[in-house]
Amino acid sequence: MTRHFLRDDDLTPAEQREVLELALAFRDDRYVRRPLAGPRAVAVIFDKPTLRTQVSFTAGIAELGGYPLLVEGSLAQIGVRESVADTARVLGRQVAAVVWRTYAQERLEEMAQFGGVPVVNALTDLFHPCQILADLATVALHRGGVGRLAGQTLAYVGDGANNMAHSYLLGGATAGLHVRVGSPDGYRPDPRVLADAAAVAERTGGSVTVVGSLAEAVTGADVVATDTWVSMGQEGEATERETPFVPFRVDAAALALAAPDALVLHCLPAYRGKEITSDVLDGPQSVVWDEAEFRLHAQKALLTWLLERS
Ligand code: NVA
Repeated sequence: MTRHFLRDDDLTPAEQREVLELALAFRDDRYVRRPLAGPRAVAVIFDKPTLRTQVSFTAGIAELGGYPLLVEGSLAQIGVRESVADTARVLGRQVAAVVWRTYAQERLEEMAQFGGVPVVNALTDLFHPCQILADLATVALHRGGVGRLAGQTLAYVGDGANNMAHSYLLGGATAGLHVRVGSPDGYRPDPRVLADAAAVAERTGGSVTVVGSLAEAVTGADVVATDTWVSMGQEGEATERETPFVPFRVDAAALALAAPDALVLHCLPAYRGKEITSDVLDGPQSVVWDEAEFRLHAQKALLTWLLERS
């Protein structure tokens, strides 16, 4: 059966642990796996801007012995020149896997349904699950291993309705974390995602909570995370997306509410002075550069794991 990674709960808790252990193993340059040797090609398609994701996937695919085939979304015009389903049928005959950053989650699901090869979500409007694998691996590194993740409290503050919030809920619940989302009215998580995350948390011993203030989310937290207030595709709403979020800014006073050794995460790019201040981003509790590095290791681990099972 072909396995995909379209949303965080496409990996069971045990499977997520395997991928995270593999991600930590890949951090050692001497650990080499070549599931794409040949080389076999992997299509890496972008319908939205990218830097970390493009570099980490293309470098990672090459390091796995494969050939990263970068496809420019505006040239491919998937769903415009040809349906997603027909594009999937073509790509499935030509490449070993498809990595795709796009808008609607449904496009990714259609690609997975008709391609016959593993499809990986490189960010949609709804989820950013590869980033959460990197985040969990980063926390594991700093907390003494994957086995120490369950029971940690992760506070995410800011836009509770975006892809990062949803993936923290679902991926965090899968890892057995206590996830608290703090966001203003009108920017709360999708209730269906919240319900799915709550069901996962029930099985893993984690929990998911949505609160209306930064203090309720961050107080005593082991990990503090935030993200831009204006996601890709929302640039036209930049002005209205400023004022409601100001009380959710991660600054020194906000961080002081968290556990004294709390870790700070940000998927980047960071808008310094907006959702996070430079003193926090560059401060001793920030692990954002490790987090960026783990995109490479986590995605190599994920691709290796998916290819071995498909
Ligand atoms: N929420 C952000 C994440 C960027 C990696 C966006 O979708 O633009």
